[in-house]
Amino acid sequence: MKVIIVKDNVEGGKEGYKLFADAKKNGATTFGLATGSTPITTYQEIIKSDLDFTDSISINLDEYVGLPEDSDQSYDYFMHENLFNAKPFKHSYLPNGRAADLEAEAKHYDQIIEDNPVDLQILGIGRNGHIGFNEPGTPADSTTHKVSLTQSTIDANARFFEHEEDVPRYAISMGLASIMKSKHILIEAYGEDKANAIKGMIEGPVTTDLPASVLQNHDNVTVIIDEAAASKLSNK
Ligand code: GLP
Repeated sequence: MKVIIVKDNVEGGKEGYKLFADAKKNGATTFGLATGSTPITTYQEIIKSDLDFTDSISINLDEYVGLPEDSDQSYDYFMHENLFNAKPFKHSYLPNGRAADLEAEAKHYDQIIEDNPVDLQILGIGRNGHIGFNEPGTPADSTTHKVSLTQSTIDANARFFEHEEDVPRYAISMGLASIMKSKHILIEAYGEDKANAIKGMIEGPVTTDLPASVLQNHDNVTVIIDEAAASKLSNK
């Protein structure tokens, strides 16, 4: 893993943007995208730039299950607000968390990933080391699937909802094997509450207890973290 330590998420966003610009320059056509607060500064840099994605495909990692279509908490809404309204793609895929048959939706999404190999995948990381919504215990060979969110993730995401009980209990997420197929993976993390997850991801054993540790088995991963998220690493 190539680790870049930055001052803060603004500087991190600039570094993250460079990877998108390089990927585009090198002919990338398909971008794996993520939600959460972490990628926002990278998206802001992309928005400020003259990069054009109208010839590109985007594939998002995950979506909550069961939110109403017009919910401003959906990841679909998030992506429009934070990137797509300013930088539209030729086609943007997100899992449909309102599908009546989630198993069929997961299969359909795997086919989309198969048909559109991801050139660059951006990721955040949960405090418990989840990526996408792949919570601890998720097998390394998992593909798109329905997920039961852990209490730690529900608590972390409650800040975006009016009441904790409004946070969906389920999501649909690309699996770890789906993420590992990407040619290049960029993972960003900012703040002290990510320090344990980052230490486990980089220096710990590869274990399903910390899903992001599987990235040690990928040969093209760039990690962008601030000093607080890097604070528990032994080798800086
Ligand atoms: C959610 C998302 C993840 C994201 C994580 C961390 O659970 N499904 O993709 O990485 O939260 O979010 P944040 O970047 O807001 O810390």
